[in-house]
Amino acid sequence: MSNAVLPVYGPSPVVFERGEGVRLYDDKGKPYLDFIAGIAVNSLGHAHPALVKALTDQANKLWHLSNMFRIPGQERLAQRYCDLTFGDFAFFTNSGAESIEGCIKIARRYHWSKGQADRIGILSFNGSFHGRTLGGINAGAQEKYREGFGPRLPGFRSIEFGDVEALKKEIKAPDLAAVIIEPVQGEGGVREAPEAYLQLIRKLCDENGVLLIYDEIQCGAGRTGQLFHHQWFKGADPDLLAAAKGIGGGFPMGMILVTANAASGMAKGVHGTTFGGGPLAMAVGNAVLDVVAGEGFLENVRRVAGTLTQGMESLKDRYPELVVEVTGRGLLRGLRMTQDPMPLRGKLSDRGLLVGTAGNNTLRLAPPLIVTDADVREAIDIIDQQFASMMTAAGS
Ligand SMILES: Cc1ncc(COP(=O)(O)O)c(C=O)c1O
Repeated sequence: MSNAVLPVYGPSPVVFERGEGVRLYDDKGKPYLDFIAGIAVNSLGHAHPALVKALTDQANKLWHLSNMFRIPGQERLAQRYCDLTFGDFAFFTNSGAESIEGCIKIARRYHWSKGQADRIGILSFNGSFHGRTLGGINAGAQEKYREGFGPRLPGFRSIEFGDVEALKKEIKAPDLAAVIIEPVQGEGGVREAPEAYLQLIRKLCDENGVLLIYDEIQCGAGRTGQLFHHQWFKGADPDLLAAAKGIGGGFPMGMILVTANAASGMAKGVHGTTFGGGPLAMAVGNAVLDVVAGEGFLENVRRVAGTLTQGMESLKDRYPELVVEVTGRGLLRGLRMTQDPMPLRGKLSDRGLLVGTAGNNTLRLAPPLIVTDADVREAIDIIDQQFASMMTAAGS
């Protein structure tokens, strides 16, 4: 069948028709356990009643308003996120990459407003992924995403994830504006930055007048058991944070959180967006936050994550020929494999389990945050059966 979609994706042949909770159903009615959730997007699963209600109620009232008018839902959501985090201001976007672009602009403008217009450097970490816009691929440290799109833009450079000596050296560069890091690398292989490393980055940024940007587009929104991942740690708050994916629960939206100090270069007319912070997105965003910040929700994420850890560790113990390491935290997890996990993804889908992959031979799991212990056990059983059949096929 011909396909007029620009051929940049390679979708699986399965066609999904509807979703409910942690399950998706294909066009033949076959159910699948969704342990990838649109890559950490459907944070409350599919067709969550509170989100459907928020969206349809708003759709019956008002869809779009330019930011030339006040949007009460936007002001409310900004205040709520600022009350729950380090942020003094929130700016709403339409995607993760747009949040990253905004963070870079705010950081450069901060130095510019202090008379340091040449301070444009952005330091990132190997393996990082910050989106597909020009700013995103230049901030990101994966050459494959930049190939064919011109030379790396001025100011952008990267060092090894976790390298202390390189960090100590690069942080002193007089043109450095900001350090950007995913506290848990997603695409790079579900790799968690150690607490001490984030604290060191924070300290060195303070000592050198450099701003710190966290990309919590994938690891935020409650995914690792805190509203934002860095809230597990003390003394490691950023100056700016890029969010998206899970904060909209499947409705496209992103957000930048920023301190008053880091935002000091921003003024009326300096930045903006047509759709960001619109009434529909804000209605859903507020409804997502009602649930995620609600009594006991994150506690339950942490508890179910414990069941997932146990299951993944037992897979590693029983299949050392296949599994090298269990990585990540909470409900953003990786099984680092001895072989390319891509074919495995297809086999698991045939068995009714949807998972993702990431760099470093990693099988990526990111189920909706409403997943239950029973769902987790079912998913682990399916992987177990697949691993057992692979071992049988290998003749052991
Ligand atoms: C850590 C991280 N940053 C940025 C992005 C880009 O987000 P979007 O695809 O919404 O532009 C992603 C998307 O996968 C991501 O995982």
